[in-house]
Amino acid sequence: MAVLEISDLVAAWDPATGERLPVLRTEVVATLRAAGNERAARIVQRIPVLGEALDPLAVDRLLIRVHTELQRLNEEVRMAQRFAELLAPILAAVRAKGIRPRVVDIGCGLGFMVRSLASSGVLGPDVELVGVDFNRALVAEASRLAEDERLSCTFGCGDAFALTEDATVYLSNGVLHHFPADALPEFFRAQDRPGTQAFIHYDLAATRLAPFGAWLFHRARMREPLGRHDGVASARRAHSDTALLSAAAQAPGMETFLFEATRYTNPLCAAMRPVVGLRPELTGDVLRALGRRARGLVARVPAR
Ligand SMILES: C[S@@+](CC[C@H](N)C(=O)[O-])C[C@H]1O[C@@H](n2cnc3c(N)ncnc32)[C@H](O)[C@@H]1O
Repeated sequence: MAVLEISDLVAAWDPATGERLPVLRTEVVATLRAAGNERAARIVQRIPVLGEALDPLAVDRLLIRVHTELQRLNEEVRMAQRFAELLAPILAAVRAKGIRPRVVDIGCGLGFMVRSLASSGVLGPDVELVGVDFNRALVAEASRLAEDERLSCTFGCGDAFALTEDATVYLSNGVLHHFPADALPEFFRAQDRPGTQAFIHYDLAATRLAPFGAWLFHRARMREPLGRHDGVASARRAHSDTALLSAAAQAPGMETFLFEATRYTNPLCAAMRPVVGLRPELTGDVLRALGRRARGLVARVPAR
């Protein structure tokens, strides 16, 4: 049966006009029940309605709370530092080609990654940092937070499958599992565009014990039932190393790798690992700059 995340079902916008679309609570509850997920159905049943539709303000406040908790998890597992470790050598190689780097975070949520990189300045003062997400409420909150924190970064609405923002490097964190496996090739192909030099997409590794690890971690660190539910569902939906590598290979102009693939990590952890794409002319410089850490980059996943 399909594994569903509540956050994917409770808010919708017209992709053409950006207008908020009503989401009927009875329909979401029926969808979750049809997928055999009574617990998720009960969580949605508690979200207030205006008439028949879920109250959009209540939904936005709930998703912002969940993403704020998610930001704390990201801070705890040092996701910004892990991105910076790969981004720094990639941007150095990009600058050596005379290109001013522009980094776009796809599915940025509250913009934690972009705000964190902007705040630390770790990537240098010339880098342009942008976050896009199709959830307009999260984008609005990300912009508000960046303004409040006086950070040099911007946020906008955008769909991962209809990217309007050009980038030197695309990245994402915890987004790939939202897409069905058969949509992944299109996602990667869309980033193989003129001007783009690399991508780094971190997501949960699909280990047998990842759902248990995610349950433990979210139970200990999250308060919102929706966040706890979706955290475990994410681990159950995670794509395998092989599925990610073969989908990423559909970006023909990129050399593609996994960094610290599941094969090499503790199977008990709900570990995050990225699929990385590099223009072939950048690969040598990036590997040299990574030094011993370059051993973590693998183009193939050996059988267990
Ligand atoms: C698990 S959250 C991760 C948010 C953020 N990257 C972080 O690390 O905190 C997944 C995000 O992907 C966004 N998303 C899902 N599908 C998307 C799509 N097709 N285009 C753009 N954003 C999408 C959701 O709105 C949500 O903000």
